[in-house]
Amino acid sequence: MPSIEKHIEVSRGRTGKDYLELHEWIDKDPATKVERHDITKIPEYGKMMEKKYGPEGLQEYLRHIHDDFNARFGHVKEDVEKAIGDTLAYFGVKPDTDVKKNAYGISTADIDLLRRAGLADKDLGHSIRVALKALDVAGRMNAPVHMELVGRGALLHDLGKAKSKGFDHGIAGAELGRTLGLPEELTTIIEKHVNAGLTPEEAVELGLPAKDYAPTRIEEKIVIYADKLSDIVSHPDGLVSNDAEAEDRFAEILKAYPALNKGDKPLARHLKYHEEIQGLMKGKA
Ligand SMILES: [Fe+2]
Ligand SMILES: [Fe+2]
Repeated sequence: MPSIEKHIEVSRGRTGKDYLELHEWIDKDPATKVERHDITKIPEYGKMMEKKYGPEGLQEYLRHIHDDFNARFGHVKEDVEKAIGDTLAYFGVKPDTDVKKNAYGISTADIDLLRRAGLADKDLGHSIRVALKALDVAGRMNAPVHMELVGRGALLHDLGKAKSKGFDHGIAGAELGRTLGLPEELTTIIEKHVNAGLTPEEAVELGLPAKDYAPTRIEEKIVIYADKLSDIVSHPDGLVSNDAEAEDRFAEILKAYPALNKGDKPLARHLKYHEEIQGLMKGKA
């Protein structure tokens, strides 16, 4: 695995700061080193890192774990991928290149894009949490999902909050995304995510262009679901003690909190996507 010095060098190159304390916390003490590299601890330690060092520190923590993982297992992953590719070719099966399951992580270039757009630290932290949750949900689904679209769509869904905190932040984000050259499938996710996909009538009531914002792709629904799960998990009243509980009690909590459900119509849509996505997880180990 890379040394502490190597991690510091990478952090300094990316942020101008060395994040010495952070890297030492992860690596230095042999008694805690394994636990601090445990990827199942990422939600817990991620929250801690964000609180202590802000979104940039959270990003450096994730990068540390990611770089170590690649150093340890990168060659294994390549060997497995080659063996699978060779076997598919031997049996004449065309590999599926569009649908990459579990093959996407958070893009640091997209985090930079959000920061350059002027997104507040609080919103950036939320965006990273939503992206991690969306990738987690998508990775557990027993259905073809475009992981990169899920990861990027979730990370960028609130891009428009750099311009507006209102209901128009979806439209503002999509517009900004288009000027930045983001692909249409991403700007669509950004535009549609507000209130779980508004009907033209609801849009007009909120002062937005009359348009059907209903999500059609599963990736769009996953981003909406992860956004709401993240709101439940990070609710200031401490509604749940972990991510699994947020999924288990999703319907009950959403029905009880108007500030979370945003009205009957959005509530009904959230419950529908929850059912659909959870249904696609069934049958998985
Ligand atoms: Fe939003
Ligand atoms: Fe959001």
